[in-house]
Amino acid sequence: MDALRTTFEQRLAAALPGVEIALERPKSGDLGDLAFPCFRAAKQLGKNPVQLSQELASSIAIEGASLVAAGPYLNLKLTPAARAQAVMGAIVGAPAGRPYGARPANGKKVIVEYSSPNIAKLFTIGHLRSTMIGHALAQTHRFLGYDVVRLNHLGDWGTQFGTLLAAYTRWAQDGNADLERDFDWADPAPDKRRTPLFRLFQLYVRFHAEEEADPAMRDEARGWFKRLEEGDVEARRLWSWFREISLREFQRIYDRLGVGFDTLEQGEAFYEDRLAPTLKQLEDARLLVEGDKGARIVELEDVGIATPCLVQKADGTSIYATRDLAAALYRKEAYGFDRCLYVVGADQVLHFQQIFAVLDKLDSWFKGRMLHTPFGMVKLPEGKMSTRKGNVIFLEDVLDEAKERVAAIIEEKNPELKDKAAVAEILGMGAVVFFDAMNDRVKPITFTWDRVIALDGDTGPYVQYAHARILSVLRKAGGDWAAKAQVVSEDGPFLAFPKAELPTDSAGLAAPEAQALLFELAGLPGAIAAVADGCMATPLARQLVAVARSFSGYYTNCPILAPDNAPEIRDARLALCVATARALRQGLFLMGIRAPEEM
Ligand code: ARG
Repeated sequence: MDALRTTFEQRLAAALPGVEIALERPKSGDLGDLAFPCFRAAKQLGKNPVQLSQELASSIAIEGASLVAAGPYLNLKLTPAARAQAVMGAIVGAPAGRPYGARPANGKKVIVEYSSPNIAKLFTIGHLRSTMIGHALAQTHRFLGYDVVRLNHLGDWGTQFGTLLAAYTRWAQDGNADLERDFDWADPAPDKRRTPLFRLFQLYVRFHAEEEADPAMRDEARGWFKRLEEGDVEARRLWSWFREISLREFQRIYDRLGVGFDTLEQGEAFYEDRLAPTLKQLEDARLLVEGDKGARIVELEDVGIATPCLVQKADGTSIYATRDLAAALYRKEAYGFDRCLYVVGADQVLHFQQIFAVLDKLDSWFKGRMLHTPFGMVKLPEGKMSTRKGNVIFLEDVLDEAKERVAAIIEEKNPELKDKAAVAEILGMGAVVFFDAMNDRVKPITFTWDRVIALDGDTGPYVQYAHARILSVLRKAGGDWAAKAQVVSEDGPFLAFPKAELPTDSAGLAAPEAQALLFELAGLPGAIAAVADGCMATPLARQLVAVARSFSGYYTNCPILAPDNAPEIRDARLALCVATARALRQGLFLMGIRAPEEM
């Protein structure tokens, strides 16, 4: 396909000197494989776009393809044989270590910072967005040849620790003290309402509830945070214990989600001894201004941001923004990145505008390298989730519920299935993660159980089902057909499949349904590139649904194992099954979703 695109571009460039050539993908494979919209070129040449497309259709010729004018579009359509050859060749002929759609190393380094939960605040459904969008971005960037560093800016410092320390010491006598009492860390699926982190969280919620009536408690919390920043031994000891408790629990969730980071050591606390140098750097650059009651700020009005960036509070303690500035400076030094992506909720848009503006003033190196990719918050029908008030939906509860619903269906429809529990887990995860990706990144999501873990329609399980169905066809075909679609190894985002001799010719693939499936498969590399460009998994999720849907048309209309099929027809159709299974499995994997072989 790449070669075809290049040829088409070259022919167009020769016919239209000085015109910028931008190709698109037609809406459907019936129209063609590539489209050239003539509007801009026509305008530049002072022609009518419809007429221009007709002229081009009769003047350009490409072997194995026809050029058809469709209104203002010039469509290039491969012959059925050429399309089959191109797509099948690209999928089954992909070199080891560089699967279909992957690109060679490009020498660019991207930092993807994601998940970044706050310690002692439980992992809610809201954290799924940053975690899974970030994971998909990290995976796809690597797939596309970037050198990726995956960071987690753990919220392990800040005034909330004042609250926790105050709450813990206040109620230490009540039996809440022993956070780890009767808890078995080795339990892979502990009762979530009895975990040490949950107990800590309850103390936090209780403190906020009581503080309403007793504002003096607020000073108590502030006092504790100050002690912590000043290095008080007891404050430090408790802090590191709370951190440990939280990290262990987060790790369990990351393991369940199959998500990882290159380090978990670079949370907010990590930058503590870099805060003073950061302030000094700001001062030397003459950016620091005295704000209210001795607080220190950086003015940003001259760059169009009305709210100044607060970097030091009046009581001398640091804030979130200071730590982000220190982190960016550290990352420049430690990684020298080309791009740094912050996968953080849309409620922090202003924060990142401020941080990036301060960095630009400080060092022009940062210009154009920093990108916040905000996403819409998850809301409950009754309004915003609030950890403080305790009305949150825990991610693990959602995953458990999804798993249970799937398990019930398996019990009803396929009780003989092997590894039922494992399959239910994979499908439940698929439902939840895919739902998230199908949503526009920026719009808020309203959480309702039925929507988030829906199993029908454009869902993860729908795509997973298409994959499993293909494997079942391949198993029925006998020989080593099923083995050809099995993953032999995994290396980062790359899945490797066995080196297989597969027919890539067109026998049996001329039917419109086979052609439609080939067309959707051809759309996958573009969809993967769009994930990186648009910083969201949505284009890939949609394309996987399109592939799954067209597979269903192919399966219904092109008999694969029919006894009267000629062997070359059967083999060509099975080969398309193998190609589709591989592509679906790799595509889901980039999103952090696994595909069972049976379901
Ligand atoms: N811990 C923060 C929160 O939960 C998100 C951190 C985002 N990253 C950053 N570099 N500020 O809201």
